[in-house]
Amino acid sequence: MTITQATSAPLIAVVGATGLQGGSVIKALSESGKPYRIRGFTRDATKAAAEALKKQGVEMVTLNLVVENKEEVYKAFAGADYAFLVTSFQEHYSKEREISEGKMLIDATKAAGVKGVVWSGLSNVAKLSGGKYTNVTNFDGKALVTEYGRASGVPLVDVQAGLYYAGFLKGLLVKQPDGTYAISWATKPTTVISMIDVENDFGLYVRWVLEMPVFPDGLEVRTSSENITPEEMARQISEGTGKTVVFKQISVEETAQLLVSLGYPPAGAAEIAEEFLFFDEFGFYGGAETTSTEGLARPTRTFAEFVKGADWSKALV
Ligand SMILES: NC(=O)c1ccc[n+]([C@@H]2O[C@H](COP(=O)([O-])OP(=O)(O)OC[C@H]3O[C@@H](n4cnc5c(N)ncnc54)[C@H](OP(=O)(O)O)[C@@H]3O)[C@@H](O)[C@H]2O)c1
Repeated sequence: MTITQATSAPLIAVVGATGLQGGSVIKALSESGKPYRIRGFTRDATKAAAEALKKQGVEMVTLNLVVENKEEVYKAFAGADYAFLVTSFQEHYSKEREISEGKMLIDATKAAGVKGVVWSGLSNVAKLSGGKYTNVTNFDGKALVTEYGRASGVPLVDVQAGLYYAGFLKGLLVKQPDGTYAISWATKPTTVISMIDVENDFGLYVRWVLEMPVFPDGLEVRTSSENITPEEMARQISEGTGKTVVFKQISVEETAQLLVSLGYPPAGAAEIAEEFLFFDEFGFYGGAETTSTEGLARPTRTFAEFVKGADWSKALV
């Protein structure tokens, strides 16, 4: 445990501290031999996840990171040496809001004079697909924030998250009338997807960036715990849980309908469905290779290890 209050240690401001990505960043930094001070943001510092972080020595700040609170947001980064920034598209499904909040975070960190920003971006699907897929706004909005951040002059590294393994524990396995389960996506069974064990592995990449001798301004990091096909993931879940899980390729419209039935708002569902067409045709990272895991503090977790360690009691009922 190396979270410290010593002012000689660098102060890392972490947005989304109680969430998957920010939580993973704090976990990875706390496992480091190097000492860090950590300031985490939440809208409610009394919630259990925030209390647990306080117990670890994280300074938790209650702040709603919206443009209406711009002044407080600027003040909140004061004194930070580095910042991890992530936007929460799933809170509102609005490209405009994601862009304005992302830009505000960049501006606030720049004003605070941080030595480096690690920004959780994604690729520009509209651009990479030559204008074919224009509805994947949660990717495109983040890519526009990346461009803004790079142009702003603040030293910035873009660490992109692969598709979460954890999605399988949150509704991506759908029970079929015959009692089996299906992963139903608008992609071929053999399409390789860059998947990430977000809780365990995402933060490793951020720590790797922060612990380089010189902050690698301009770097793009494409995270992946394993590059794996959906049919292989279905096979491994079956093997590891003893339940029958199959992969079914469905149309983009069916994928959107399925997501709506799982509780996604129609606009969000349509855009997530189109993501799968992009992955199928261009790859999760638009054809660019995933970043080598060689420099990471420990090996990333394979999908098989995730299957073995996960609690499937709610996902396979
Ligand atoms: N699902 C995937 O496979 C995948 C893949 C790549 C990228 N992504 C992207 O990942 C992002 C979400 O990151 P995540 O998975 O870490 O989210 P998460 O687990 O849902 O956590 C969201 C975090 O953001 C905080 N937050 C949300 N709105 C806030 C606000 N207005 N002010 C202050 N804090 C706020 C939450 O804090 P409190 O609730 O404590 O306030 C929480 O800590 C999305 O933009 C998504 O597009 C997802």
